[in-house]
Amino acid sequence: MSRRNKIYEGKAKVLFEGPEPGTIIQYFKDDATAFNAQKKGTLAGKGVVNNHISEYIFKSLADIGIPTHFIERTSMREQLVKAVEIIPVEVIVRNIAAGSLSSRLGIEEGTLLPNPLIEFCFKSDELGDPLIAEEHILTFGWATPEELEDITHYALRVNDFMSGLFAGIGIKLVDFKLEFGRLYEGEDEMTVLADEISPDGCRLWDMKTGEKLDKDRFRRDLGGEMEAYKEVARRLGILPNADITEFADHQNKGK
Ligand code: TMP
Repeated sequence: MSRRNKIYEGKAKVLFEGPEPGTIIQYFKDDATAFNAQKKGTLAGKGVVNNHISEYIFKSLADIGIPTHFIERTSMREQLVKAVEIIPVEVIVRNIAAGSLSSRLGIEEGTLLPNPLIEFCFKSDELGDPLIAEEHILTFGWATPEELEDITHYALRVNDFMSGLFAGIGIKLVDFKLEFGRLYEGEDEMTVLADEISPDGCRLWDMKTGEKLDKDRFRRDLGGEMEAYKEVARRLGILPNADITEFADHQNKGK
């Protein structure tokens, strides 16, 4: 681990230089944070489960023609991705009111939205990821009009795909967060899906029981986080037999 150059450490992942120029290793930690890291914890095995869930979803999205940074999963906690310049905008897609939409606008959690709603937040830990309008993105040049068009188009396609994927395993896709990056290849520059897609950044409700199968279990002190994440993986047919806690999170050494 120490032989590699750490590029960046985020709340849930560490990025290392990859084996080839233009590649990066994403290492998935067991650390969990909420409310802009005011609440912190460790969920044993989360990194392993999220690495596999994200791999599954990114591969499936590539299969339907959505460009992503994903290359391959290289170990239980790591995946190789293309180095991209992250666009500093968090893209949230909502199908059902919950979380900050409900508290901000007084819309009861669980209210079905008449259409998928896209929201943008400025990616800034110091500012607490404030909600912004498309006009802010364009005015401050965080993305070009073409990039914004791609982002919106891909976000809706990801929503269509993931809504169907989760419906097929008895889960409602309430909302989720995406990040996009700029991939430079020679003269070309393209917008690709980046970061991760996992129960850390999605709201997933069991269709029959309404049980939360996502990071709201941690945010709201409901307990049973790993059982919920593993249940999502199990229904997707991922990691059926592995004892995920066997694969220690070395990034947590000494913490
Ligand atoms: P929100 O209701 O708190 O705005 O969250 C909407 C969705 O976006 C929810 O599925 C959680 C996800 N999300 C993140 O992944 N990272 C964040 O920093 C925030 C605020 C939300």
